[in-house]
Amino acid sequence: MRTLYCGELRKENIGETVTLYGWVDRRRDHGGVIFLDLRDRSGIVQIVSDPQRTPDSYEQANALRNEYVVQISGRVTHRPEESLNPRIPTGEVEIYADQIEVLNTVRKQLPFQVSTADTETVREDLRLKYRYLDLRRDRMARNLQLRHQIVKAMRRYLEDVEGFIEIETPVLTRSTPEGARDFILPSRVNPGEWFALPQSPQLFKQLLMVSGFDRYYQIARCFRDEDLRADRQPEFTQLDMEMSFMSQEEIIELNEKLVAHIFKTVKGIDLQHPFPRLTYAEAMERYGSDKPDTRYGLELVNVSDVVKDCGFKVFREAVTKGGIVKILPIPNGNDVISNVRIKPGGDIFREASEVGAKGLAYIRVRDDGEIDTIGAIKDNLTTEQKQEILQRTGAQPGHLLLFGAGDDVTVNKTLDRLRQVIAREFGLIDLDKINLLWITDFPMFEWNAEEQRLEALHHPFTAPHPQDLGDLKTARAQAYDLVFNGFEVGGGSLRIYQRDVQEQVFEAIGLSPEEAHNKFGFLLEAFEYGTPPHGGIAYGLDRLVMLLTGEESIRDVIAFPKTQQARCLLTDAPSGVDAKQLKDLHVASTYKPKSQ
Ligand code: AMO
Repeated sequence: MRTLYCGELRKENIGETVTLYGWVDRRRDHGGVIFLDLRDRSGIVQIVSDPQRTPDSYEQANALRNEYVVQISGRVTHRPEESLNPRIPTGEVEIYADQIEVLNTVRKQLPFQVSTADTETVREDLRLKYRYLDLRRDRMARNLQLRHQIVKAMRRYLEDVEGFIEIETPVLTRSTPEGARDFILPSRVNPGEWFALPQSPQLFKQLLMVSGFDRYYQIARCFRDEDLRADRQPEFTQLDMEMSFMSQEEIIELNEKLVAHIFKTVKGIDLQHPFPRLTYAEAMERYGSDKPDTRYGLELVNVSDVVKDCGFKVFREAVTKGGIVKILPIPNGNDVISNVRIKPGGDIFREASEVGAKGLAYIRVRDDGEIDTIGAIKDNLTTEQKQEILQRTGAQPGHLLLFGAGDDVTVNKTLDRLRQVIAREFGLIDLDKINLLWITDFPMFEWNAEEQRLEALHHPFTAPHPQDLGDLKTARAQAYDLVFNGFEVGGGSLRIYQRDVQEQVFEAIGLSPEEAHNKFGFLLEAFEYGTPPHGGIAYGLDRLVMLLTGEESIRDVIAFPKTQQARCLLTDAPSGVDAKQLKDLHVASTYKPKSQ
């Protein structure tokens, strides 16, 4: 029987005889004395074996190799003064191994070193192929344990303090629109019909409110077939919540207490709340983003009104065509960012053009306060316009002003991207800062230029602002996102709970009454049987854990993630299936591999 975990041993245990199980993290032979680091999920402890003090275990100790699985019984002793190790919690003790039993060996060469002492970086594809070994390593093991602590804190707070109950919702369901493509599954018993995997439990949680459960939560797996990035996986986990009879303010307050509880429990950090808030309009104006990283300044300055009649065509036309001209002012930018970098072929130019910018106009402020730029700008701005630009941007000698001019989406995207790139390059990000803020008052809809129609910015079940019911198309939504150091970690809204309002929203996004009935008839019908006012939120658990562990990719906080190409390298999924299976499912593939 195990007495305790390796990482739990302390000097209080000295004199005890213990039995431990674990893996050989490292084995060192110091002139006939064998030292082992024994590792289990809690950490490591040093084991000692030599012919004098532990004659019964010496032979086995000698034969051990890295990653063998062993059972060890021995006496806990104080380490000699010279070998105390303050870097590990068990560093004051070691165990004289009276007995070692090998439970399993390693028969192949390890694909990479697993030892906690090994700091070599291993290629991610190798780590993912041998994920079970990667998860033995210190960093990943700690990440998954922190993930567990976070989920535990969520459950404890929601259940014990706020009276939420967890209810599971189906994974085989029909499409829930959250803006991504669906994963679909053919039904064998219903030929020609398909299930969709949920992009979120949105509709079920609303139906649970109709049922009167009042406060629901779920640690829910969601599936979205979209382009993958460091903070996006095709399947990911949400903390999903829904509650009835609460105002937006009450929902936000409850969620601030939840987030503060999580930070306090897992990190010991006291978060100040209420968290700051920005409206969507303000966030876009000042940062060009609805998830701004506010750990640093570099705020954007709108000069559309200053340049709308100026002689420089690019600026003037941007505004007359309904677009904007904005500036990213960069203090001391002149020293670091050369013209080569902001002209075609340069790295800053490339960043801008990747998000659609066609050019990057600039003004440099020289030591004498004079401005330096291309002739077309210098000669076509009046002295007053130049003065106004310098004043609004607070420009000082050394400042570089980068301009975005064009439609507002492209300008904001460009300057948002450059703001982030420059903050990183200039070391402006204080890594100790935790900036949580709410973004509120999102528009209900945004224009989808490709499909030439409005689409819901959040999802079509979000309630419009009561003051904006006159014109739904331009209405603000009662929606709120939680942003953490520039990442959207959560989003929610008050919901529509009246059939007629829901029908108007479906109409606004271009769904005909028939389509609305076919896709969401069950919801519309439910609204007619006494639906309480309700609202909710969902957090991206993986993103939250990524930020709390200091990782840069959610792949590092998910036990078995997919690669950027949406593959599982460990099981080699997705894979082909038998022709018979396809036949049973009434499915045939139209895919034709390209001939080599
Ligand atoms: P939303 O679509 O904003 O809202 O999703 C909620 C949160 O989930 C996270 N997230 C993701 N994380 C990893 N990989 C992905 N592909 C991915 N997509 C989203 C984000 C996001 O903030 N039903 C609504 C919630 C509600 O209104 O209650 C919803 O799903 O952190």
